[in-house]
Amino acid sequence: MAEIRIRNTDDRISGEANVRAFLDQQEVLYEHWNPAKLPTELDNKFVLSDEDKELILTTYSEEIRDLAARRGYHTWDIVALSEATPNLEEVLQKFEQVHTHTEDEVRAITAGRGIFIIKGSDELGYFDVELEAGDVISVPEYKPHFFTLMDNRQIVAVRLFIEKEGWIAHPFEDSSFQKA
Ligand SMILES: [Fe+2]
Repeated sequence: MAEIRIRNTDDRISGEANVRAFLDQQEVLYEHWNPAKLPTELDNKFVLSDEDKELILTTYSEEIRDLAARRGYHTWDIVALSEATPNLEEVLQKFEQVHTHTEDEVRAITAGRGIFIIKGSDELGYFDVELEAGDVISVPEYKPHFFTLMDNRQIVAVRLFIEKEGWIAHPFEDSSFQKA
């Protein structure tokens, strides 16, 4: 289940109802898919064949279609990152810059972990959303954010798009953002 860390105060928010209420207030969509639906051989697999990816999409086909119908997504795919990813450092460096999109950024985590760092209201500042398998999040369009891996540096997620072009990152220079 996702957990929140407020960067300015180091306060943490946990428990499904609290996390949902907080994210709702920050206009970040949060939903949950049953991680136990994933075939066990894929629980800890981060280098995926096309067949593995297809199996994940088939496993969650009902959830994907439901979300897509409600929110207007037309295409979806699977992204997998781990130490085995060529140029992982380079990929992460590119990811770890605050940016915005003209389209929302949807991720349904099916294995591993990851963090979205999102700009909240002015009083709140940036907060981290720590995600694990089953967590589904959508960062709204134009909301400054970035994504990175957690210590285990492994993740598999379903990405959904309205149009792939809408997901091109626009750098967001923010002097109020402090890393770490
Ligand atoms: Fe993004």
